[in-house]
Amino acid sequence: MKHETPPIVRHSSKVSKEDRHQLNGHKSCVLWFTGLSGSGKSTLASEVEHELFKRHMHSYVLDGDNLRLGLNQGLGFSQQDRSENVRRIGEAARLFVDAGLIVLVAAISPYRADRERVRSSFSEDEFIEIYVKCPLVECERRDPKGLYKKARAGKIPDFTGISSIYEAPVQPEIIIASDKHTPNESVRLILDYLRDNGCL
Ligand code: PPS
Repeated sequence: MKHETPPIVRHSSKVSKEDRHQLNGHKSCVLWFTGLSGSGKSTLASEVEHELFKRHMHSYVLDGDNLRLGLNQGLGFSQQDRSENVRRIGEAARLFVDAGLIVLVAAISPYRADRERVRSSFSEDEFIEIYVKCPLVECERRDPKGLYKKARAGKIPDFTGISSIYEAPVQPEIIIASDKHTPNESVRLILDYLRDNGCL
């Protein structure tokens, strides 16, 4: 006998996203930090989160490294695995935004098409792409985890910027030149954007 896959029906909630916005006193959105390893994504996401917290705003950081220890465990760094990684992060971010939070994603997310796919799952004002722009030479000079050195020595395959591509955003909402601004200045630029766009 042929088995049928039963259809999955989405359940609706009695509490809408707008109800949650009202309760929290602010809108929810995703701040998507993309950039090379060592560009400063995690540092900035975590500093902005701290500033939001001090303003009693509900936020949470989804960091690529951290998620690879749990939700994304087992995924590597091939194009296919990175795409799946970004898809899952996007799905998690969507749930958090639905729950009324300001989500800060820090992930290399090197492929434009993957980021655009995530963007298209949000409404226009909900997805804020932040390009943490830093020249490869500077990221390599910082090399906070010693990964560039290993990649240059051929010990890490498919390393972003060395042996795997990074596609910079074409029209990000915010560009942070992290080699030109201090972390404090960069955080200020992001908070200014959020204020000017009615998110704060
Ligand atoms: S991606 O491209 O979005 O799927 O990557 P992400 O989930 O953000 O994970 C990036 C972190 O993984 C470590 N790492 C590597 N990065 C790039 N290329 C290779 N091959 C690699 N292997 C391990 C590294 O710590 C990255 O963290 P950041 O914070 O970007 O330095």
